[in-house]
Amino acid sequence: MSKKTMTLTDNRNGNTYELPILDGTVGPSVVDISTFYKETGMFTFDRGYTSTASCRSEITYIDGDKGQLMYRGYDISYLANEKTFLDTAYLLLNKELPTAEELENFSEEMKKRSFIHEGMKKLFDSFPDRAHPMAILSAGVSALSTFYFDHLDIDTPQEYTEMANRIIAKIPTLAAFSYRYSNGLPIIYPDIKKGFTENFLYMMRSYPHNYVDLRPIEIKALDTIFTLHADHEQNASTTSVRNVGSTHAHPYAAISAGISALWGRAHGGANESVIRQLEMIGTVDRVDEFIARAKDKDDSFRLMGFGHRVYKSFDPRAKALKAIRNDLVEELGINSELIEVANKIEQIALNDDYFISRNLYPNIDFYSGLILQSLIIPKVMFAVIFVIGRTPGWIAQWIELQEQDVIKIARPRQLYVGTQDRTPEY
Ligand code: SDX
Repeated sequence: MSKKTMTLTDNRNGNTYELPILDGTVGPSVVDISTFYKETGMFTFDRGYTSTASCRSEITYIDGDKGQLMYRGYDISYLANEKTFLDTAYLLLNKELPTAEELENFSEEMKKRSFIHEGMKKLFDSFPDRAHPMAILSAGVSALSTFYFDHLDIDTPQEYTEMANRIIAKIPTLAAFSYRYSNGLPIIYPDIKKGFTENFLYMMRSYPHNYVDLRPIEIKALDTIFTLHADHEQNASTTSVRNVGSTHAHPYAAISAGISALWGRAHGGANESVIRQLEMIGTVDRVDEFIARAKDKDDSFRLMGFGHRVYKSFDPRAKALKAIRNDLVEELGINSELIEVANKIEQIALNDDYFISRNLYPNIDFYSGLILQSLIIPKVMFAVIFVIGRTPGWIAQWIELQEQDVIKIARPRQLYVGTQDRTPEY
């Protein structure tokens, strides 16, 4: 059978180039351009990597047209409805869902590893009041490496597992401590008897000596939110994690870089921006004004929580969150006025040609903020919630990179458009 290739012709000189086409299990095939520069003396150009596959991966698959998302081949709706976040984290890291016993052992290890070195408290003390928790969290994960320096050079599956369990288990504690310190609240240590998600809400909301009421419905809602955020192919923050991992920097540095990348409002910071935007709009009669601004090319205003690089139909995670939000309005006391504003935005945008022609649909961030607010999680912590959910995915992607036969350092080229040959002035 003939090799699958694409022939390119340079019309300037008639040169032709045969480039291999590689097929995946599902989804678009790729044209392998790894020898393109050597053969043509030219680079390809793809601002924002909209048409570029950076790696082979077995972890997550997204079909942007169908609005489908799978982790290790399981549809996201199955995992969100039938499994827990720890099931999903285990799946991402180990390629298979855990047995009951494996899940129990994983959960116990998360509890035991949820404590952080007391020396980390000096780092928290060094930040001013009201420091953004994402800044503290990114610094905190990098600082973890100073307490585990003997594990900075890891390259065996057993070491990967220990590192993964350590970082996944400690991030909720670092997150809760970040928030409590930046608000002058007494820190609440993890409770060794509480499960992963319950423990985080406990550390966020409890008064000293265990005075807090956490309802199962709140724990389940947050656990599902973590599952929906757990991985998402080669998004900007995962690409940052892989880029740092490609230099053989240790995973603490890579995850810290992922946290910083996620913070941007075009990425994981969008959920905080969505709520701020809904609150700014305030009432349904002001929605038209902001829809007009979002469509105005001369106005930098964008509808936060709308649009996605890959999904050109409804983000399946947004669908799942909208269902959770609608189910929990009463029980969680979700802000119905902001829901009305959100529903009005959605109703107008989904029928307006500007949004339809650009395939702009609500994404995961459009709905998560309203649920998080009803869980008494402050806006500044919304991106932190995203970090807790995404960490198992980032680590699974980092491990997949390390397990490749050859790790090529990430080093794109450029189209130089600057000045040249300038005369030196002495
Ligand atoms: C996440 O990659 C991932 O997987 C990310 C994520 C994950 O799980 O990791 O899914 C999480 O980051 C979700 C996205 C959260 N961000 C936001 O909600 C911010 C608002 N959205 C936009 O900034 C934007 O839609 C992006 C960043 C999400 C996608 O940007 P693209 O793919 O680069 O698209 P683009 O900027 O080229 O926009 C295409 C057109 C432009 O108009 P034209 O130049 O064609 O006339 O659509 C317009 C844009 O102006 N547009 C919007 C818009 N988003 C795009 N116009 C108004 N409001 C918006 N939100």
